[in-house]
Amino acid sequence: MARPKIALIGAGQIGGTLAHLIALKELGDVVLFDIADGTPQGKALDIAESGPSEGFDANMAGTTDYADIAGADVCIVTAGVPRKPGMSRDDLLGINLKVMKSVGEGIRDHAPNAFVICITNPLDAMVWALREFSGLPHEKVVGMAGVLDSARFRHFLSLEFGVSMRDVTAFVLGGHGDTMVPLARYSTVAGIPLPDLVQMGWTTQEKLDAIIQRTRDGGAEIVGLLKTGSAFYAPATSAIEMAEAYLKDQKRLLPCAAYVDGPFGLKGMYVGVPTVIGAGGIEKVVDIKLNKDEQAMFDKSIDAVKGLVQACKGIDDSLS
Ligand code: APR
Repeated sequence: MARPKIALIGAGQIGGTLAHLIALKELGDVVLFDIADGTPQGKALDIAESGPSEGFDANMAGTTDYADIAGADVCIVTAGVPRKPGMSRDDLLGINLKVMKSVGEGIRDHAPNAFVICITNPLDAMVWALREFSGLPHEKVVGMAGVLDSARFRHFLSLEFGVSMRDVTAFVLGGHGDTMVPLARYSTVAGIPLPDLVQMGWTTQEKLDAIIQRTRDGGAEIVGLLKTGSAFYAPATSAIEMAEAYLKDQKRLLPCAAYVDGPFGLKGMYVGVPTVIGAGGIEKVVDIKLNKDEQAMFDKSIDAVKGLVQACKGIDDSLS
């Protein structure tokens, strides 16, 4: 059977890391696409040359021509500009919306059967716009945010409790921005919910609140340290988890920016919710119950995402 074809639209920091991870995990053959001629070709060749030492079988190609993504099974989109210190994800909206238009049209014309994972920020608005521009089915276009935000939450919790990250599960819902909603009640250490761990005296509410805030600021913390760009190792790894769930029909239950029409009382919008990813793409949105405080945080996040989508419509008439 032919290997799956994975197109990476954007061959920058995240795109290059994605290509390397795909090769190491032998998930498929890679086509790196970018408008900066030389970058995708150079990264593809460099990664291919690591193959003999690592011993993987995966073809690597770099291109500036959308025709080369033809027939891709998965497209992962990182094209656009990242944040610099002092910028919020929302500050990227105007520039990256134009990028989503050309990328959406490229995918529509050359890889309409692909499962598309968007990473470009501001995430919830960009994945919505990418779906609009591409015209692909909603269940085949999804945004990567919740897996990354949850991974950050899990990492900080594992440090606090002094236990393996593998034994920490965490849920982060809502938009991928300052209003994201880390859900303590649905986050556990080996099945013990965080509020119970506070009651058991293993941590304090103050420490937990600080971890939740650090999770919300997780992206900005990295931008502040790197100064020249934003995070790329953990975002790439998170998107690979989603791509693998699709390619291997794993039915993983992962928080993603998915199209929600009905669950959570939402009417046709993209936002971070628990989903099941399998061969059908987003096969299910899991409608969990929120308490009053959680619902208030979620509503605030929904309003922020709606505001960004409105701003997109204001910039590009074809979206309204
Ligand atoms: N089509 C294709 N590629 C493009 C386009 C376009 N219209 N415009 C820009 N690019 C390419 C750039 O040439 C660059 O190689 O996108 C790449 C982006 O790479 P980086 O600048 O290294 O950014 P990266 O860290 O990979 O982040 C990309 O993901 O997390 C988000 O906020 C982040 O929106 C940003 C995106």
